[in-house]
Amino acid sequence: MAEAFPTLFSPVTLGRVTLRNRIAMAPLTRQMAEADGTPTDEMVAYYARRARGGLGLIVTEGTYEQDAFQSRAYLSQPGIANAAHVAGWKKVCDAVHEHGAKIVIQLMHGGRVCDPRTLGNEPPVSASATQSGGWTLYTDNDYEKTIRNIDGDWPKVTFGKARELSVAELHAVADGFAAGAKRAVEAGADGVEVHGANGYLLWQFITPKTNLRTDEFGGSPENNVRFAKLVGEKIRAAIGPDKLLILRLSQDGVDDFTGAWPGGTAYAEAIGAALKDSAYDALHWASFNYLDNRFPADPTPLPTVLKRASGKPMITNGGIAEGQQAEAALTSGAADMVALGRPLFAHPDWPYIVRSGAEYPWLPFDRKYVIQPPLDFGHAYPMGLVDPKWPQP
Ligand SMILES: Cc1cc2nc3c(=O)[nH]c(=O)nc-3n(C[C@H](O)[C@H](O)[C@H](O)COP(=O)(O)O)c2cc1C
Repeated sequence: MAEAFPTLFSPVTLGRVTLRNRIAMAPLTRQMAEADGTPTDEMVAYYARRARGGLGLIVTEGTYEQDAFQSRAYLSQPGIANAAHVAGWKKVCDAVHEHGAKIVIQLMHGGRVCDPRTLGNEPPVSASATQSGGWTLYTDNDYEKTIRNIDGDWPKVTFGKARELSVAELHAVADGFAAGAKRAVEAGADGVEVHGANGYLLWQFITPKTNLRTDEFGGSPENNVRFAKLVGEKIRAAIGPDKLLILRLSQDGVDDFTGAWPGGTAYAEAIGAALKDSAYDALHWASFNYLDNRFPADPTPLPTVLKRASGKPMITNGGIAEGQQAEAALTSGAADMVALGRPLFAHPDWPYIVRSGAEYPWLPFDRKYVIQPPLDFGHAYPMGLVDPKWPQP
């Protein structure tokens, strides 16, 4: 019998790194590092468990790359900003490699939506002096409120007005990314992903709504993506040609869930074309539904547009929960690799289950995994499961 989903389970080479299949774990913030950003043993167990489930690539949760410039976005977010962080990530990378998967550390700077508690008395930094409208983090059911002692509405998170970074500071921030990438490689990572998506600093440059600059870092799609390119160039110079370098992009931001790039498909085309000569080996599309491009006049999925315009391999994410959907994303020209987020919270063995072709009761994602991971160890980190000894590809 032919194997289920032959494209999904075929190897793929991104840059100079070959992955055993086309399934990546999407980056998922867990807030389970030590308070000082050092990765914990729970993180080792969590990532190892998912590597053991048969993934080709793990993209880690967003990790702050430097202590300067208010880059930390969350409490208990991991960092790759010092030697202790490197030692912690080394354990994660070693454990993932033991199970045959590759791993890239996602480097992020929170920009204007950093948790104010990480900022000291400094304002957040951004492309321009804008202020996020904030967001309501959690909209779960009453049970979730009860166990978290929340009365009334879910709390709204607000942020202070951002300070605009000067051009000299942009170069310093990009140098910080490069130094973080070098430390990631020292920790044993196969490369890094630069977080240019979901409302954080690089997104704040790429998205015209939050980039009001009139210098070479704003005012056109080419200028808006220039900072992301600068970060990529400096990282490449720091880590050399053999390591994988990915750029993640999205329309949405954590404070702008229905975001759409003004200009629609044309904007995506211009961003893609501008990234053609960039240092990135691959792009990674972040969304909750990769088919949804929000421009009714042109229903082409945006990852398809970006892939064509850039000529870069595309990792496509958003709403892919079944093997059939993953295979379709690959064979339709929307993806060279797929990334799954929520399904891998709940199902560390997703790749092997899908490959076996077995029916499986896919549980709906539950947002409770967002807030207090320690509450959820039993489900999110099922280390007690018997190793099923799935046949290796
Ligand atoms: C709890 C949670 C944490 C996330 N953390 C990150 C992150 O650190 N970096 C990132 O680029 N995306 C992050 N995302 C977005 C996911 O990578 C992904 O784009 C999203 O879950 C949609 O994909 P899915 O339908 O496969 O879950 C997060 C999403 C969730 C639900």
